[in-house]
Amino acid sequence: MGRGSRVAIIGAGSVGSSIAFALLLQKISSEILLVDVVPEAVEGQVLDLSDANFISSTQVRGGTFQEAGQCDIVVITAGAKQKSGETRVELIERNYKILNNVIGSMKPFNPNLILLIVANPVDILTRIAQKLSGLPERQVFGSGTFLDSSRLRLKLASVLGVIIWIFGIAENAIHSYVLGEHGDSQIIAWSSAHAGGKPLLDFPEIQKLDKESVAKEIASKAYKIIELKGATYFGIAGCVSMLIHCIVLNQRHIRPLSTYIKEYDCVFSMPVVLGSNGIERIIDISLSEEEKNKLRRSASALKSICAKY
Ligand code: 2OP
Repeated sequence: MGRGSRVAIIGAGSVGSSIAFALLLQKISSEILLVDVVPEAVEGQVLDLSDANFISSTQVRGGTFQEAGQCDIVVITAGAKQKSGETRVELIERNYKILNNVIGSMKPFNPNLILLIVANPVDILTRIAQKLSGLPERQVFGSGTFLDSSRLRLKLASVLGVIIWIFGIAENAIHSYVLGEHGDSQIIAWSSAHAGGKPLLDFPEIQKLDKESVAKEIASKAYKIIELKGATYFGIAGCVSMLIHCIVLNQRHIRPLSTYIKEYDCVFSMPVVLGSNGIERIIDISLSEEEKNKLRRSASALKSICAKY
């Protein structure tokens, strides 16, 4: 079973407009609505995107919050963005207020709507959106560590190459996840990572790798991009357009996304099966005791912030 493909993007800034552009290129949505409290931002982005409309028959137009609430998929990007050196968690006060207003303005929701949270701190905002929206939990989730996991696979593909800039194994043949918080306490699940059924930890190149420094490099990639160009948007736009593709076509790929995880009693990323109804199933990935301990610490920090909202 597939689903309709009217997508609303809340927030017409660089993330929202890049997602709209990536969706245009994918040619899978019938209509994209851009919604923002600043009408000039919407008008400018719609005019610019319309110049790329020869690529696909997708209609891009401005929309209201009420119209967004009746779409098939709503992507929330609205919010303050990280400044150089600022953590994602530090955005919570400002972005909680924005999320609260956005959800209130979209109600009542199409009961089958999928609400995809992208604004940061994505794990905490996803938990809040689940509560505020009243939609079933499976329909409200966050982009989580999908982007971090893509960053990791790119890194590992180059490590497994003979020469650093020639990828030795295709990225999509590497099964490795960054899990937990889309933020500083994220972990790399080395113990379950594999390529072709061979544990990554058995590859000599991976054995030689300084894993702490890889973890730091992946967790701090966004900081580096923000320092250099002020914001990150192409990576997240690529990830979100893939997630929407997966939902619209009911592809049931496994992606690490922010969702409520009972074992840790918090919302953060674990691998899930994504289909047209949203999160179809959470995969109970095997992790080492050390990885679980790190996730427990991360969960308790996130939970204590969530408790305030
Ligand atoms: C990113 O990781 C900042 O969360 C954004 O690119």
